[in-house]
Amino acid sequence: MIQLKSEEFSHFRAYLREIAGIDLGEDKQYLVATRLRRILEEAKIDDIASLLIEIKQTYNRQLRQKVIDAMTTNETFWFRDVYPFEYLANHLLSGLAKKNGAARTRIWSAACSSGQEPYSISIMIDEFVRSKFGMSSFPVEIIATDLSSAILDSAKNGLYDRLSIVRGLSERRLKEYFNPVGDNTWQVKPNILERVQFKPLNLQDSYLMLGKFDVVFCRNVLIYFSAELKRDILSRIRGSLKPGGYLVLGSSESIGTASVHFEMIHCNPGVIYRAI
Ligand SMILES: C[S@@+](CC[C@H](N)C(=O)[O-])C[C@H]1O[C@@H](n2cnc3c(N)ncnc32)[C@H](O)[C@@H]1O
Repeated sequence: MIQLKSEEFSHFRAYLREIAGIDLGEDKQYLVATRLRRILEEAKIDDIASLLIEIKQTYNRQLRQKVIDAMTTNETFWFRDVYPFEYLANHLLSGLAKKNGAARTRIWSAACSSGQEPYSISIMIDEFVRSKFGMSSFPVEIIATDLSSAILDSAKNGLYDRLSIVRGLSERRLKEYFNPVGDNTWQVKPNILERVQFKPLNLQDSYLMLGKFDVVFCRNVLIYFSAELKRDILSRIRGSLKPGGYLVLGSSESIGTASVHFEMIHCNPGVIYRAI
């Protein structure tokens, strides 16, 4: 196990805050040591201080990305918290279909991790369209972004092993929306996959090039950021929403001081937010 001197740890903390916005707690030496051990071994670097020098002085982008990939927490699962997906299908999609007509409805899954969130949204849209027998077409575009390039690569191909599949997916949805490919692997069907576009994006950077959205899912990522960064991100997400657009946070997250930009909608259980 690598040992981190306290100065080394505080330099690494500051660096991670700068590049990813992630605000590690003061007691996270062990987490850093565990997650970076393999990278140090592979790169034949002795300690974290030398790793930081290597990344900063030589602009080693590949190594920088490996550090980001190792330090991000990618925990996710299908239809996480259930209510955001049900509320979307039962309360929001009809209104959006009517409002947008032939124009595309746009949904953003910010911090999409391995893809379960945007694909769950895509499945909900498919179920919604099928439940409306008279509906000829409902064009929806889902933009899914994340900071970690390793996780985006795995999300794009839509392949999942049994361990990921069993988390939150019913037998019916597995049969309907996935093709088995080999032992213990399933792939999201093309009609669900095609609706989702994956792009790298650091939530600290500008979102202007993504355009405006009807709904933004930004779940279980703001918890890693400082209060100021969270406020800044939420106010810029507000700027990325069309008038009256919706924001969905994680079930244990709150909007904090950004509440001036949003009104709360009670979904029972859970809440979502509407831009004001
Ligand atoms: C715990 S996962 C949440 C996944 C999904 N939204 C959910 O709720 O199930 C958090 C994700 O945030 C991403 N992340 C962390 N810092 C980020 C940043 N600065 N910009 C964009 N994504 C970031 C991580 O790579 C990770 O995939």
